[in-house]
Amino acid sequence: MKKELGGDSSGHDWWHIERVTSLAKRIAKQENADVFICELSALLHDVADEKLNPSKEAGMHKVADWLEQQKVDGDAAEHVLDIIGAMSYRGGNSERMRTLEGRVVQDADRLDALGAIGIARTFAYSGSKGQVMYDPDIPVRDQMTPEEYRGGKSTAVNHFYEKLFKLKDLMNTDYARKLADERHEFMEQFIARFYKEWNGE
Ligand code: ADP
Ligand code: NI
Repeated sequence: MKKELGGDSSGHDWWHIERVTSLAKRIAKQENADVFICELSALLHDVADEKLNPSKEAGMHKVADWLEQQKVDGDAAEHVLDIIGAMSYRGGNSERMRTLEGRVVQDADRLDALGAIGIARTFAYSGSKGQVMYDPDIPVRDQMTPEEYRGGKSTAVNHFYEKLFKLKDLMNTDYARKLADERHEFMEQFIARFYKEWNGE
């Protein structure tokens, strides 16, 4: 994983994987989920991402081949592949995870998009996509008509409304929800202060 993702600057670097994996293990223990499945799925959760592969299928093949090479037990490999395949967010309508382990890993990935780390990742990602950090003239996507949207650029600050502030209500497990609430509150404080400073206060 480290070799595969080392230099990525779109928020999928090795340290994201590291953080998600340790969060997944922590949540798994609290929720009595299978720690091995959660850990392995968290480690592999971004390898098949469409952003890093010619297609999602190509990415999934890569993971399946690797699991076979490592002689991971057939049922476990199938479970891990099922989780990775369902991981992506896709605008909030992502299918409900079928297993507890899937719900744990999804929570861990979403938690890493929140709080101080989440804020930092959002600005880093925005920069890598050429988006500005904020522009009061660019409306939040949810409030745009399709004509206004035109597939156009968003901003780092808009991303809080388009995704980040919605994540706490999407948490699957009680333990992750508790962590998400704290991180959510910190982001609200950050945004409030951002506007104050923007306005010269
Ligand atoms: P993951 O695959 O780990 O769930 P994503 O690929 O959705 O993460 O996003 C990687 C990081 O970049 C996240 O922290 C996310 O909030 C941020 N990000 C994703 N899309 C945008 C965007 N349009 N504007 C700003 N930040 C974004
Ligand atoms: Ni991720």
